[in-house]
Amino acid sequence: MKTFVLASQNKHKAEEIKQILGSDFEIKTMDQVGLSNFKIIEDGNTFEENAAIKAVSVFKKINMPVIADDSGLCVDFLDGGPGVYTARFAGENASDGDNINKLLCELNNVPFEKRSAKFVCVIAFIENSANNINYFKGECSGHIITEKRGTSGFGYDPVFYCEEYDKTLAELGEDIKNTISHRYKALKAFSEFLK
Ligand code: IMP
Repeated sequence: MKTFVLASQNKHKAEEIKQILGSDFEIKTMDQVGLSNFKIIEDGNTFEENAAIKAVSVFKKINMPVIADDSGLCVDFLDGGPGVYTARFAGENASDGDNINKLLCELNNVPFEKRSAKFVCVIAFIENSANNINYFKGECSGHIITEKRGTSGFGYDPVFYCEEYDKTLAELGEDIKNTISHRYKALKAFSEFLK
């Protein structure tokens, strides 16, 4: 069995990755390799840069294969923003609600057809050298609607509308979301690479 360390403390992400990669792979979180207090400063300008910063920082500590992911929301009307600032769009300690409110304010009076957006996820994978990073990208396209709908998921899910289902990601629920999400698509590409 191959073991990868996920450059994140997020157990939910580790579970999602395990499910997609299958039982030939073991995924350990940073906690499980003694890096629970290790802080990484994500100051890249792109999702790729941030994923690489996380992967390289952890690889240099433990010298084992590392997976890191970085994701966010890109809104066309905001020229691709909030992008790498997605988590802290409304400030350093902003809640999901604060971030959604800021987004809806910035898009106030913007018509539906100009509210197109996508979630992007980039996975950086280092197997045995920090000079050799493989990247895998997934995107999920939709529109930002004017009010929250649905209660499942997290982040911007309640305002991210998928035309194909006529529902927001928060109305769709985890099972369907996990077959169309940016993270799922990036992980699928990664899992193809491993085969
Ligand atoms: P992270 O890089 O996975 O931590 O994602 C950064 C930020 O993007 C999160 O704090 C969320 O606000 C947002 N985000 C990422 N993925 C999703 C998603 O699947 N649904 C809603 N928001 C997301």
